[in-house]
Amino acid sequence: MFYEPANAHGLPYNPFKAIVAPRPIGWISTRAPDGTPNLAPYSFYNAIADTPPMVMFSSSGRKDSVDIAETTGEFACNFVGEALMKAMNQTSFAYERSISEFGKAGLEEANCRIIKAPRVAAAPAALECVVTDVMELKDRNGQPVGNWVVIGEVVGVHIDDAMLTDGRFDLNKARPVTRLGYRDFGLTPPIVELLRPGED
Ligand SMILES: Cc1cc2nc3c(=O)[nH]c(=O)nc-3n(C[C@H](O)[C@H](O)[C@H](O)COP(=O)(O)O)c2cc1C
Repeated sequence: MFYEPANAHGLPYNPFKAIVAPRPIGWISTRAPDGTPNLAPYSFYNAIADTPPMVMFSSSGRKDSVDIAETTGEFACNFVGEALMKAMNQTSFAYERSISEFGKAGLEEANCRIIKAPRVAAAPAALECVVTDVMELKDRNGQPVGNWVVIGEVVGVHIDDAMLTDGRFDLNKARPVTRLGYRDFGLTPPIVELLRPGED
């Protein structure tokens, strides 16, 4: 089959996100100027460079995480391990801005070192980020579409020491949850090592 997204795909559900899968989940924590913590999962999320390390997340519509990250210039990305999957999902509920998703999901906050945003204490890892760009996406005609991208430079990296094996962040222990299409999630392991040509 073939379809153009501007037209109907003819399927019961939109397949786009299942095709661009799996996607890592950035569990974005921020602290509003009044001190209220905010926490929400974003699967339009990824690392986009490594020197300096940079990440992005994208909001379908301008959500609180974008507003607070832009206002404060900071956000943290918490790694979603399998043990935190249900709590992560709980924090996707559209609570009022005055309500902390940490409390609603029964999550303990930990302080970041460099930024004021909190992080998820139980997360296997977390990235402290300083905002470098906030932009509204445009379509191919240059028209703004109401979706917002936040880019940040990673200025601090937290790793739970228990997740290290022989000096590597061990994904067999951290067990990342990834977003697939529909209401599906991916779990890791299994993990397969593949050396590059000339490395074997
Ligand atoms: C696994 C998962 C991934 C999500 N990814 C996104 C995303 O990439 N972009 C988005 O706008 N909303 C996404 N959502 C929905 C937001 O988490 C939800 O709208 C949340 O209430 C936003 O919170 P905020 O307004 O505090 O930022 C996702 C939800 C789940 C459960």
